[in-house]
Amino acid sequence: MTKMTKMTGNPFYARGVVNPRYFANRAELLGFFRENIGECMNSKIARPDNIAILGNWGIGKTSTLYKFRDIIHNEMKNARAFSVIFPLKPSICTNADIFATSLMDALFRQYSVSMPLKGRIVETIKEESKVWEKWKLEKLSLKPELKRKDNGGSAVNLTETLLNLWNKLESNGVEIGVIMLDDIHYLLTGGWDGSLYDLRTDIQALSAQGARYMFVITGQTFLYPEMHELAEPFTRLFEKFEIGNLDLDGTREVIEKPLMVEDTGIKISDEVIGRIHDITEGHPFFIVFIMRDLLREIKQGRIDIEKFNEVYPSIIEHLTKTKFQDDFNKATDAERETLLKIAGLNEVVFTPSDIKGGSQSKLFERLMEKELLVKISRGKYRLYHTMFWEFLKMMKKGTS
Ligand SMILES: Nc1ncnc2c1ncn2[C@@H]1O[C@H](COP(=O)(O)OP(=O)(O)OP(=O)(O)O)[C@@H](O)[C@H]1O
Ligand SMILES: [Mg+2]
Repeated sequence: MTKMTKMTGNPFYARGVVNPRYFANRAELLGFFRENIGECMNSKIARPDNIAILGNWGIGKTSTLYKFRDIIHNEMKNARAFSVIFPLKPSICTNADIFATSLMDALFRQYSVSMPLKGRIVETIKEESKVWEKWKLEKLSLKPELKRKDNGGSAVNLTETLLNLWNKLESNGVEIGVIMLDDIHYLLTGGWDGSLYDLRTDIQALSAQGARYMFVITGQTFLYPEMHELAEPFTRLFEKFEIGNLDLDGTREVIEKPLMVEDTGIKISDEVIGRIHDITEGHPFFIVFIMRDLLREIKQGRIDIEKFNEVYPSIIEHLTKTKFQDDFNKATDAERETLLKIAGLNEVVFTPSDIKGGSQSKLFERLMEKELLVKISRGKYRLYHTMFWEFLKMMKKGTS
């Protein structure tokens, strides 16, 4: 009974990565990761597999990286590992030097180390970081920013720098270094020609020279085939995992895990879980968003379908204001016209030729880049979520 009145606060948060303790589902992917790390712990000769995590907007790519980090540094207590999560953005993907410099900077600043090695590794990293800063200063002293050498090569040799670091880490007991590059698709648009080939060369050279780095990349699903076509040898380096919407059990876990971990005493009825699953189609962002709002309204006890239905309209209103309206606003006039035409279709799945007026393929591409449209197979598309479709129908009604 005391539990019913306990106030623990709202564990749901949809605007950032999920707390690793609440991380739900994705068993196959986590299993593959754990096994890989385990093998490297148990054998001097094992080489880790690199992993590519692909998925659409808000599906949990970044959250998975933080979960990986938690697995090696907290869950596997005896892991002797080093890791870094490096979020890519367009400005650091403009050329090889800026990329390498930013990666090394991030690595020296945002790394994590497992407990058994903490003191020693932190010291090593500090020393290496000083060497790196000094080197950078010397390189940069005459130039406002890193430029390519006259011979066309790069100023920063990424392989050499990472190899050097590996040797230091290894002699201090580290058995694996996990380098996670989030949102790899920026490499395609940042302006660095041949980026995938360059990176592949680095990854291969490191592996060949015995540096036990595992590279984990994340990216948008629809860009991967393009990456594959552009640089097949790059994609070949990775074991590919696609993460998509969750099934009912996955949805249940997203809902129940935080409630249980925090011992909130709040109980969600099966019917409500089923309803949330239907509405969200198992999309983690929307599940978490709805749960956050639900717990804001109802702070204790059992939440059944009647209670849920009472607060649901205000949740949708909130979602419309914060998400769908924003989605719509980021489209140009021409793209909005297309979106409203899509709202008038009867089918969830459609092709550009279903939309009348002008050439739609360019518009479709741009809407895909804005993550509002999802390509499901050759020539076939759908909106990124049915709830957005409903929203557009409302907009269409309002304008006609
Ligand atoms: N496995 C999971 N368990 C619980 N919640 C999750 C899970 N995956 C994602 N979420 C929730 O979904 C939301 C989006 O997750 P995240 O930011 O990791 O996705 P993403 O794929 O990196 O998105 P983006 O495309 O914006 O980069 C977060 O609020 C997070 O709480
Ligand atoms: Mg992300």
